Parts: sequence; structure tokens; C-alpha cells
Amino acid sequence: MNFHVLTLFPEMIEQGLQTSITGRAMKNNTISLQTVNIRDYSENKHNQVDDYPYGGGAGMVMAPGPVYRAYKAVEEGIFARDDNSKDKKLRVIYLTPQGRVFNQAIAEELSKEEDLVFLCGHYEGIDERVLEMIVTDYVSIGDYVLTGGELPAMVMIDAIARLVPGVLNNDASAEFETFHDNLLEYPQYTRPETFMDKSVPKVLLSGHHGNVAKWRRQQSLIRTANIRPDLLEKAKLTKEDIKFLEEYNKSKK
Ligand code: ADE
Repeated sequence: MNFHVLTLFPEMIEQGLQTSITGRAMKNNTISLQTVNIRDYSENKHNQVDDYPYGGGAGMVMAPGPVYRAYKAVEEGIFARDDNSKDKKLRVIYLTPQGRVFNQAIAEELSKEEDLVFLCGHYEGIDERVLEMIVTDYVSIGDYVLTGGELPAMVMIDAIARLVPGVLNNDASAEFETFHDNLLEYPQYTRPETFMDKSVPKVLLSGHHGNVAKWRRQQSLIRTANIRPDLLEKAKLTKEDIKFLEEYNKSKK
């Protein structure tokens, strides 16, 4: 999987993703990261990339020219590497609070692409015309406003990269965790067995795999019911799960 980021702050993206698991995946060539500084494509003698908004109002708007040229340079690089990619529609993701809200299902869908281009805006946004020309997906990472698209791009790249085969050590771990099946994850414990008078739940020490699996499922159900009841509507529940939740809800009253 090849990530390409169009940004005014390439060092922020590189430093953010070069550590930990995404950093290791880049060293292994399981994923690659190309950052392109939009400012390098300014044709202005002061390297300016923004200008006043037509119609007035506060703030500055990123001009279409530098963004378009930076995108074309990325597209050319991808086409030069792989001639077949010309037939595929390149996904270009613009990070904006006006987009559809990012979630695990979108991460899974995007993790199947070979190349993803992220466009990070700043100031009051980017000239609408260039967005219409190059963007395929408008994505928000939540209902709050950040100073730019760099952190959202990093959030998305991290969530997508860990779904790429070979990025996590343990292949199983991407699958059986929070949001798989729309249930929150059960609590985890490690040594010591007793920490400041708090003991690990006895069932986890029993070595009885069936009972451990049942307890974990029930903990997932309880957590989801208490913290994210909206997820339960989408979760695939067994008859036993439904019965357990009914009894749990009764016991709470
Ligand atoms: N840019 C500014 N705020 C954002 C958000 N919440 N999601 C995506 N991009 C953004």
C-alpha cells in the first residue's frame, strides 16, 4: 500500500508516521509514504500558496494552482511506476469537517487500494474548483474543527495501514478487537495476579478456554451496552447474547 500526502507540513506527517508500527512497516516496505510539499508547486515569487477569498470574509483560501500541480506530480509518479494504474480511478481523499465521518468500515474499504492520495488543507480551506477536479472522497475524523488536515490524514493512515497484511505482527489481532462485529473489546489483564488488592478475574486463571471465551463475550456485550448502545443495533448477536443482555438489563434496574 502506497500513501501519498499533499501538505504544507510534510515533516509533520513524516515524523508522526515514522515511529512505532507504521515506521516499521515503512522500513519493511510493507507500506510506503510519499509527502509532497504543496508550496514547492507555487509559481509565486514569494512561494505564496494562499490568497484572499472572493466575496470577502475572514481568513485565506489555498489557491487551486499549487494544489493541482502537486497532485499531478503524484499522479504522474504513480502512472510511471505502474502503467496499469492509469485504468483505475485514483482515490484522492480531502480531509475536511464537511466530509463523511471516518470509521472502521471506511478504513477496511480503503485498505484494499494500492495507492491513496491525501490532500491536507489549511487556512479557511481550498479553492472549490480544484477540489471538484481531483477529490474523490471527502472525509472528516469527527465533529470538531482542527487547524489543518495533517492530523486527520495521520489518523486515517494509521487506521488503514494496520489492516494491510504484514503490518501487524499478529495477523489475528486486527480482526478480533474493538469494532470487529460492532462490539467493544473485553478487558485485558496481565501479571501480577494481584495489583494493589485488585485481583484478575478468576475465570481467566482457570485455563478453561470455553469459559474464558464466554466471559469475554459477555464483557464485550456489557461494555457495548453501557458505553456504545448504538453499536449493538448493528452487531450480529446470537440468541444467547440477546438472552444475556436481557438478563443484564433486568439486573441493572
Ligand atoms: N480539518 C479540520 N478539521 C477536520 C476534521 N475534524 N476532520 C478532517 N479534517 C479536518
